[in-house]
Amino acid sequence: MTLSNAVVFITGANRGIGLEFAKQALARGARKVYAAARNPDTITLDGVVKVRLDVTDAAQVAAIPVLYPDVTVLVNNAGIARFGGFMDEGSEQSTYEHFETNFFGPLRLTKALAPVLAANGGGAILNVLSVVSWLNAPALAPYGASKSAAWALTNGLRLELAAQNTQVSALHMGFVDTDLTTAIDAPKTKPADIVARAYEGMAAKQPEILADELTQQVKAALSSDKAHYLIGNR
Ligand SMILES: NC(=O)c1ccc[n+]([C@@H]2O[C@H](COP(=O)([O-])OP(=O)(O)OC[C@H]3O[C@@H](n4cnc5c(N)ncnc54)[C@H](OP(=O)(O)O)[C@@H]3O)[C@@H](O)[C@H]2O)c1
Repeated sequence: MTLSNAVVFITGANRGIGLEFAKQALARGARKVYAAARNPDTITLDGVVKVRLDVTDAAQVAAIPVLYPDVTVLVNNAGIARFGGFMDEGSEQSTYEHFETNFFGPLRLTKALAPVLAANGGGAILNVLSVVSWLNAPALAPYGASKSAAWALTNGLRLELAAQNTQVSALHMGFVDTDLTTAIDAPKTKPADIVARAYEGMAAKQPEILADELTQQVKAALSSDKAHYLIGNR
């Protein structure tokens, strides 16, 4: 699905990759861009409609389809990533919080907006996932678990929403240069490059958009005995 004349709803659109999604939606001809953020005062981009939305707040999510019934594209971008392993103290609470934002957030919002998408012809959903949907790392273990679950969610939604003609795509990538990775010393892709690949993948109706080389390698190796989820990223 292309963005020409689309009405795009983006979560976490005040900064990082979400802000880039909003900028490029406007540049690619979207008719309207709803830029959602926990605090809409932090949205500084001109030309968007500011929306208050914490994806963990069920009441706020429930109001979205009533307030914005013209949405045709949903970008589930908002996410959190905190350092820690499963064996660390507090890992249960951390895992719960990652799932609340990274899994239940997109699930809740998709269920709320799916009838709107259907009424507007089907539309499209893009779920912003990660290469860690397919591997886990001690430094980001609960985060990885939440993105693995969100991958399963995306695959399920694709099948369940096919009947209403909603295109569902997953976006996977390694490190991207945003606030989320400031403490990580590793090669990072620019948000602009990731978002360009995402929108091009959606236009090409790709169910799974692999936005960088590392992600392509990890996905390709999944069935081998050297799969990254077995040996780490060596
Ligand atoms: N950066 C990477 O290396 C990388 C790699 C793979 C995947 N991703 C994924 O890409 C997405 C965007 O990440 P990013 O790098 O742009 O991160 P970021 O710069 O830390 O931005 C995260 C965004 O999510 C929002 N957010 C967090 N919790 C929220 C909630 N409960 N409700 C609504 N918004 C919430 C934040 O809002 P506030 O400003 O209010 O905190 C912010 O807008 C995430 O899903 C992330 O997992 C990132």
